[in-house]
Amino acid sequence: MISDAIETTQCQQKDPVDLFHSGHFVKICAPMVRYSKLAFRTLVRKYSCDLCYTPMIIAADFVKSVKARDSEFTTSKGDRPLIVQFAANEAQVLSDAARIVCPFADGIDLNCGCPQRIHDDLKRTVDLCRKAEATGVSWITVHGRNVEERHQPVHYDAIKIIKQNMSIPIVANGDVKTLKDAENIHHMTGTDGVMVARGLLANPAMFAGYEETPLKCIQDWVDIALEHGTPFTCFHHHLMYMMERITSKQEKRVFNVLSSTSAVLDYLNDHYGV
Ligand SMILES: Cc1cc2nc3c(=O)[nH]c(=O)nc-3n(C[C@H](O)[C@H](O)[C@H](O)COP(=O)(O)O)c2cc1C
Repeated sequence: MISDAIETTQCQQKDPVDLFHSGHFVKICAPMVRYSKLAFRTLVRKYSCDLCYTPMIIAADFVKSVKARDSEFTTSKGDRPLIVQFAANEAQVLSDAARIVCPFADGIDLNCGCPQRIHDDLKRTVDLCRKAEATGVSWITVHGRNVEERHQPVHYDAIKIIKQNMSIPIVANGDVKTLKDAENIHHMTGTDGVMVARGLLANPAMFAGYEETPLKCIQDWVDIALEHGTPFTCFHHHLMYMMERITSKQEKRVFNVLSSTSAVLDYLNDHYGV
């Protein structure tokens, strides 16, 4: 909650742009509604994630209601560098929301991506990015699909062209599942960082080079989630994602219908010694 966070997190602002100038490829946890909350951010930071985004927050609600602020935004001392993502269609509202959250964040992101991403006519995307650059944005993340594409391959060639036409850092997003994928995309597109959503849900340790979720990471999630008082549904959903690749269909049938924290803890202890 912002009110609890005031004393611990104010005045530690870091400029996340420095990360892009440090010469290494920046590894970023994407904004994910319901998922990229404080507990999950704490977990991925333990496994080499350089920068985290909050889930998308509706700026108008955030400005209007203390209740919305306290339920939508929680942070802690170690939760930096942090980018807060807002959805807004009025500049004043976005600015007001940014002003409220700014002591606890290192940057503000405006969600421009749902549902349009790259345009079929790439020149229009490059123009849009240039306009954004001219307004002073620090970097742009590009998801390499257009509005009709859901499961088709990501257009990394388009991301490369955007990167070549811009001076500010460009972050590539889409279908990165392993650290190797991230490195390949870096080489393919020349971008300055990679943002990952589903790959991190499935394996929060992927940026540290793990090909699948290590048991230690599951143990860490249990510890962090319980420490943060994570609601059961969120606690359980994250485990379902993390265990997707390492459990059989039969195990999933049992695990996915568990309905209490104690049942989950017993299952993990019996099957994995976690
Ligand atoms: C569960 C989930 C929630 C998401 N929520 C947001 C969000 O709040 N804001 C946003 O800009 N994108 C959101 N996205 C889109 C992701 O940030 C990302 O652009 C997309 O999933 C493609 O990346 P990926 O291939 O690494 O998953 C969400 C994606 C998922 C899977």
